[in-house]
Amino acid sequence: MRAQSESVVSASHREGLDGPIVGGHKYAGLHPLDRSQTAPANDRAPDSNVTDGTGPLRMPPASLCWLDPVQERTVKKAIVVYRSHSGVTRRYGEEIGAFLTARGIATQVVSVGECDMATLADADYLLLGCWTSGLFVIRQHPDEPWLAFVREMPATLRPSVALFTTYQLRTGSQFPKMRAALAGKTASPRLELKSRDGHLSAADERNLEQFLA
Ligand SMILES: Cc1cc2nc3c(=O)[nH]c(=O)nc-3n(C[C@H](O)[C@H](O)[C@H](O)COP(=O)(O)O)c2cc1C
Repeated sequence: MRAQSESVVSASHREGLDGPIVGGHKYAGLHPLDRSQTAPANDRAPDSNVTDGTGPLRMPPASLCWLDPVQERTVKKAIVVYRSHSGVTRRYGEEIGAFLTARGIATQVVSVGECDMATLADADYLLLGCWTSGLFVIRQHPDEPWLAFVREMPATLRPSVALFTTYQLRTGSQFPKMRAALAGKTASPRLELKSRDGHLSAADERNLEQFLA
């Protein structure tokens, strides 16, 4: 996977992916429709002053140069932030992250302690998870480290938000408490996922697909 902070991938830097490669010479980065800079009059750039350090550089035919679509493709970003007491919620977060990555989303999976708050504002999707703590039948709530993370979080209204939790018996008031803590900090969460074993179910996958759509 490419560097996770990278949000825009230029085809001119990806060898062979989108047709003739024009990156690496003086026409690199020109948009094919940008007429403000002039292409060589004869299909060949002058050899004399163009070099890549290993000798004169032959330009591809200008027809290829200018037709080469220097496309810029925005890669969506997701951050999965979890709080896990004994590892199950971490596994769930990692499975969610793997699912998003497989769909071409640049995804970071981090614990609440590892999360760099500065990365949140730039995300398209924010998936926040915490294990269910309570009295098993009543009073479920996210634990204090998760709540502290949310308190410290800057208002992050851009990303679409999903919540996830793991539990044994009943999630009860867990999601309402998570939502209450996030009120005013993020957009209203659009999805809630829960699991007993930390594995992504087929239903979870369908719900995530809808969340991304
Ligand atoms: C102190 C404590 C309280 C818990 N309270 C609940 C609860 O109220 N409801 C529930 O379904 N599971 C409850 N559980 C079970 C955990 O939510 C469940 O095992 C979860 O998967 C643990 O996630 P983790 O491995 O990421 O810490 C509790 C577990 C502990 C240790």
